[in-house]
Amino acid sequence: MEFRAEEVLEKIKKKELATVRRNPHTVPYLAINGVYEDLSGERIGWWTNGFWGGILWQMYHLTKEDCFKTAAEELEKKMDAALHNARCMDHDSGFRWLPTAVANWRLTGNPESYNRGTIAADNLAGRFNLNGSFIRAWNDENGVNRAGWAIIDCMMNLPLLYWASEVQKDPRYKAVAMKHADMAMKNFIRQDGSSNHILCFDPENGELLQALGGQGYKEGSAWTRGQGWALYGFTLSYLHTKEARYLETAKKVADYFVSKIPESGLIPVDFDQPENVDFEDSTAAAIAACGLIELGKICREDAESTADGRKYMDAALQILSALDEKRADYDEARDGILSHCSAQYHAEDHNLWFVYADYYYIEAVMKLTGDELFIW
Ligand code: GLY
Repeated sequence: MEFRAEEVLEKIKKKELATVRRNPHTVPYLAINGVYEDLSGERIGWWTNGFWGGILWQMYHLTKEDCFKTAAEELEKKMDAALHNARCMDHDSGFRWLPTAVANWRLTGNPESYNRGTIAADNLAGRFNLNGSFIRAWNDENGVNRAGWAIIDCMMNLPLLYWASEVQKDPRYKAVAMKHADMAMKNFIRQDGSSNHILCFDPENGELLQALGGQGYKEGSAWTRGQGWALYGFTLSYLHTKEARYLETAKKVADYFVSKIPESGLIPVDFDQPENVDFEDSTAAAIAACGLIELGKICREDAESTADGRKYMDAALQILSALDEKRADYDEARDGILSHCSAQYHAEDHNLWFVYADYYYIEAVMKLTGDELFIW
């Protein structure tokens, strides 16, 4: 499989340098016609706002260019408005503060960043429902009580809890993360290795009431970004705990994902979408590539799993080659790299440019070149 990671990283580096110089104060979410939309201000609580920080810290780690650090520090401070607002605080604290405050702390030891990461972890742990052993996902919206809702995406927020336990030498956070991971393993992951998106529990007695199709095609289908969150999330839970059951689950999810990758290497929005629908999601592709590379590395270190390791790594390279050749825009005059991102199956537009697709694409490429700053 031909994927020249060093050459791709060189193009990314040039593009991100031009992008940050054009956007030193922007909090990007979508790139619209090559221009980043700015979510500073009222939309500072949006769940994706940490990913630009992740790009900036990865690029700072790689280049030591001050413009990346300055922009990342400004973003982190802006996000304090979300950290201090209960309405903004949901389960996505890992997505928001691991690539920003915790990344800053890892690189610079900044005590204010450590403080932010700790507040975010405390809040995330506080969302744990003891009756059902799950972390509550979202807050109520439009009059819908979502006290009993858990979503597979949360597997990617658990590393904030593993981090808090490690740095504080306090097992509470890790215990919450593992209770949630065990619940997800039991309830979200289906027999064939695919994952549900949303599960609704009775928040009083923990009874599982209903599975919802969520952002996928329909109930019971396999929304690919959710499969990516599960694949990478269980791999990370294994990396942080070394519990074999999480590795087995990650492999089960990965085997399902790999078996569904189309010949083109381009990932649909839902593996069960109708055959005549060509919706794609580059975010799912990039997230899965990260998980497959990490899983591949784990398996290759174990003599009995080398063949699996090769399979996962080849699948990651197939996905990344397809993104590089068909979906990446390295034009330095335009913001955003990956096209064909989709928020959900039932959306009007499926050709969007999301900052978090770029984040995971960059992370995957940097895993291959050995330049990655470990975020999760
Ligand atoms: N975590 C929300 C999403 O993946 O769209």
